[in-house]
Amino acid sequence: MNGERKFRLGVLGSGKGSNFVAIADACAAGRIPAEVAIVLSDLAEAGILEHARQRRLPARHLPPGKFRTKLDEEAERAYVAALEDAQVDLIVLAGFMRVLKGDFLRAFEERIVNIHPSLLPSFPGLEAWKQALDHGVKVTGCTVHFVDAGVDCGPIIGQQVVPVLDEDTPETLHQRINATEHELYPKCVAAVARGEVSIQGRRVVRKK
Ligand code: GAR
Repeated sequence: MNGERKFRLGVLGSGKGSNFVAIADACAAGRIPAEVAIVLSDLAEAGILEHARQRRLPARHLPPGKFRTKLDEEAERAYVAALEDAQVDLIVLAGFMRVLKGDFLRAFEERIVNIHPSLLPSFPGLEAWKQALDHGVKVTGCTVHFVDAGVDCGPIIGQQVVPVLDEDTPETLHQRINATEHELYPKCVAAVARGEVSIQGRRVVRKK
């Protein structure tokens, strides 16, 4: 140990927390040079909070306020304050099912990443695996990207392909995409934490 301050992650999620587990375990194993500083969820019963508590990581339920798909102003202030108090360097959205808006994005410009279960820009929004099946595509996958003001868009850090099989159901396809997310997301977060990538317009490039 050289006493240097570690890169700090703030993780936001609304669901079962499998991507959080992949990232927390990669941090603990040294595959991501970072630590989880705080985990926040808009849902009190979300699995992600339970996984965080089992790992003795700070975890809080922060109510989202009066809207269904975004945080209201008061909630947004509470999220920003909690993340600033925790001195996070990067916000990692891991199944956080609310769109982040103005003041939140401005507070953490170019410091928010998200994972989405499709090869963006195809199939943004909900149940992307089902959208892929309904559309009849032969490959889909997952995407890790920096977050901008749009929904599931922003400069792409990495993508991983998943073939669609004739016998796939929404459940089997979602499961295989989810498994690839657990490989891709830790690699992308590690690249950001190591300072290996930079944003140039719409593109994310490896620093020379
Ligand atoms: C993941 O499949 C993630 O890609 C998706 O939510 C799931 C969360 O699972 N996110 C989105 O659809 C965002 N638009 P997890 O709670 O097990 O990590």
